[in-house]
Amino acid sequence: MWNSAPRTTREIRMTSTSDALVVFGITGDLAYKQIFPALQAMVQRGHLDVPIIGVAQSGDLDQLRARARDSLDKHGGVDEKAFAQLCANLKYVAGDYQDSATFDRLRKALGGAARPLHYLAVPPPLFAVVAERLSQSGCAKGGRVVVEKPFGHNLASARMLNRTLHLYFSESSIFRIDHYLGKEPVQNLLYFRFANSFLEPIWNRNYVASVQITMAESFGIGGRERFYEETGAIRDVVQNHLLQVTSILASDAPASTDPEAIRDQKTQIFKAMRPLAPTDLVRGQFTGYREEDGVAADSSVETFVAVRLAIDTWRWAGVPFFLRAGKRLPVTATEVMVTLKRPPQAVFGEIEPRQSNFLRFRLSPNVVIALGARAKVPGEAMIGEEVELIARHHSGDEMAPYERLLGDAMRGDATLFAGEDSVEAAWRVVDPVLGDATPVYCYAPNTWGPHEANALVGGEGGWHDPRVHEVAP
Ligand code: BG6
Repeated sequence: MWNSAPRTTREIRMTSTSDALVVFGITGDLAYKQIFPALQAMVQRGHLDVPIIGVAQSGDLDQLRARARDSLDKHGGVDEKAFAQLCANLKYVAGDYQDSATFDRLRKALGGAARPLHYLAVPPPLFAVVAERLSQSGCAKGGRVVVEKPFGHNLASARMLNRTLHLYFSESSIFRIDHYLGKEPVQNLLYFRFANSFLEPIWNRNYVASVQITMAESFGIGGRERFYEETGAIRDVVQNHLLQVTSILASDAPASTDPEAIRDQKTQIFKAMRPLAPTDLVRGQFTGYREEDGVAADSSVETFVAVRLAIDTWRWAGVPFFLRAGKRLPVTATEVMVTLKRPPQAVFGEIEPRQSNFLRFRLSPNVVIALGARAKVPGEAMIGEEVELIARHHSGDEMAPYERLLGDAMRGDATLFAGEDSVEAAWRVVDPVLGDATPVYCYAPNTWGPHEANALVGGEGGWHDPRVHEVAP
């Protein structure tokens, strides 16, 4: 990740590149939508020229190549040259994940590879068994493992999974993926915070009134009903994506570019997040969710959640962090709004909280960094209006998160992956409010969730609507 930064001894020690990539669940949805496009992009950039071994329950190599082509056709297009190279490196092992013979075949397919990267793109209940079989067959030796989210189902199961993985892999060889951390604008948040001196003096409880993060999606659950019934919005995007973004916004500056230094600062924030109480959140479910295939008729799983979070540090004491995520909302957009306090005196009349200065970070679908200020409307009266100074504006990610993260994991750079401590600390935050600890309220599709969520932001000027500052790319 830190291409231009001097490398520390630890980084150099860590960075022997993986000499084979094993993808468990190669015929699954994640591989189809994300992994094949990432692999082709890596080949195009000259970042991937090692054996790629797909593992799945059934099928053969020809079928796998056909599926890879189909995946690329639907997700960005086939680059024939890169695709030919990808196929030349592709091998396939079919078999049951419980069966040790599958892993013996994998060992053979790995040949002399000394540092394979094993990507577990399989349902979470299979993580432990695959890790164990990898170890028993000798495939884990010298290897690394990438584990997909959700990492556990609650604090207890996340701890258990960590313990299990540690039986077979050292912490520095475990890469817990959260694709949000691979997003260009999320990286830019980190960069923008610590590459500018003007921000630091105001980035604290003295100047910041509140922080809001909205992750709105206008679509529903579409084809993932079973997964979603097990998961819900808190586990799906709050415990990971939204708390990760919060930790980047709230952390102190790392002392060095060492991956551990950044992760340590973020972990401190996770540990300082106050565990949520039932009064800190409102859950919602869109009308019609229960009628979808695979959803229980009496399901109380939330498709929307709004949270008021406290971070008990010197810097953030008393500053509310409001997080909101939901499906079937009026727009698809993820946006961070850092609202600054009002000027101490109303020289030109009272300013509402909504009209204060702010920093706005649009994380998707387009990317914006903007500073909100007030300027005088031309004319006789001393009346102001909001203006935005746009510091950065482009239409999207240059490098897809999965490409970036796979490349990092191959190189052994764990900066953008969740560590054991932070993942457990994040579960500790949401653990008290999982399941039916709070009621779930209905909301109509295409609205901003149940109106009960408005009470959470009370005196802070209401929820920020990401459509308000829409700027054409
Ligand atoms: C995934 C969640 O992790 O992130 C999905 O499981 C969500 O429910 C998705 O839609 C959002 O990611 P992105 O990159 O499309 O904004």
